[in-house]
Amino acid sequence: MAEQTRKATLNIDGKSFDLLIHSPTAGPDVLDIRKLYAEAGVFTYDPGFTSTASCDSTITYIDGGKGELLHRGYPIDQLAEKSHYLEVCYLLLYGELPTAVQLEDFESRVTNHTMVHEQMHYFFRGFRRDAHPMATLVGVVGAMSAFYHDSTDVNDDWQREVAAIRLIAKLPTIAAMAYKYSVGQPFVYPRNDLDYASNFLHMCFSVPAEEYRVNPIVARAMDRIFTLHADHEQNASTSTVRLASSSGANPFACIAAGIACLWGPAHGGANQACLEMLREIGSVDRIPEFIARAKDKNDPFRLMGFGHRVYKNIDPRATVLKKSADEVLELLGVEDNPLLQVAKELEQFALNDEYFISKKLFPNVDFYSGIILEAIGFPTSMFTPIFALSRTVGWISQWKEMIGDPQMKIGRPRQLYLGETTRDYVDIENR
Ligand code: CMC
Repeated sequence: MAEQTRKATLNIDGKSFDLLIHSPTAGPDVLDIRKLYAEAGVFTYDPGFTSTASCDSTITYIDGGKGELLHRGYPIDQLAEKSHYLEVCYLLLYGELPTAVQLEDFESRVTNHTMVHEQMHYFFRGFRRDAHPMATLVGVVGAMSAFYHDSTDVNDDWQREVAAIRLIAKLPTIAAMAYKYSVGQPFVYPRNDLDYASNFLHMCFSVPAEEYRVNPIVARAMDRIFTLHADHEQNASTSTVRLASSSGANPFACIAAGIACLWGPAHGGANQACLEMLREIGSVDRIPEFIARAKDKNDPFRLMGFGHRVYKNIDPRATVLKKSADEVLELLGVEDNPLLQVAKELEQFALNDEYFISKKLFPNVDFYSGIILEAIGFPTSMFTPIFALSRTVGWISQWKEMIGDPQMKIGRPRQLYLGETTRDYVDIENR
């Protein structure tokens, strides 16, 4: 980090303390409070980390006011339109767009790791058939450290690189296996002659009894969904991965922790919840009823796929996905899909409603992704696993950045303690 000269002064009970001010390449200035407790004896209080930068990073930048998302400086709409998922993976992992030779080498490394250890097939069989694929994914990815213990030493550069490639390569295989297991079909081995998205579709939708041809339009839409979910700076699951890995835990365990966090409906689980909500609304005439519920303080219902901690403008990923949903549904001949009609009307209704305007609540990435995934043929339970496999590269890139930082410390937040102070134990008969 560059030497800082600007300072803010904090006064506490007549004593003043200087706090360095860091100027980022983009975004608001950041007050450095690292020495605050040592010098002033106070903690800061920020539940939900609404004002706290937990790390410095060069990977992803979001301007929530403008509705801008940059990976290594490149806008997400340009990457979604001109690039493809594995190229974006390379960009996130190594910092620059690859040359043709670098890309070919990277794609070949990923492709050569798509198969999982054969013993994993038996591991899967321990799960109930009706398990949610996210439950299976958390378990199987966590178990990768038992299958690939030759890439768990976080202090070894080569092992870190192999773990990163293994995770990016095997997550689609594991997610597809979780799906096949839940529908009672045989696992389908990866095909290394197919691109990343086509191979995933092949592993999910082909069966041994019939030939399966991947529709290139569907493969492009799938790849775009992967690309749009690849990274999103210090969100809850990424912060979980960073916190877990700050103890030196192995990468497979850390990514499993990220997957567990992603599952919640306020985070990656929102794509499933959003489609279920659109189904529950069912028809355009019921929209006012659900908008009224979302605004009612006494009703826990929220419009799923709306609102964001950082975006106070439209999520740029939602803009790309809305267009993509129109294209994909038209190309698949299902453009009159009632869910898409409800989604579009609901969006318009909310965008013109004073509650949503004043709170700056706009559609987020989860609002349109489910409609595309459903049109492709995925059940809602697969939406969040698809988010997880796409985000794995973001988690891994952030993990690599953190492990490579000489300033890395174990993450250990403080607290504002409001419980009892010391008191003597009372024997049970006297309570
Ligand atoms: N519907 C109705 N009201 C909402 C919504 C919504 N979707 N989102 C926020 N609000 C209200 C909320 O009630 C609060 O009102 P008040 O100030 O009167 O108490 C205000 O807006 C601010 O909300 P918040 O919960 O304090 O904001 P947050 O930054 O902590 O939460 C969020 C962000 C994404 C968790 C929230 O907007 C939400 O629950 N949205 C629905 C779930 C969703 O779509 N999540 C996906 C997020 S994007 C992808 C991802 O991260 O994985």
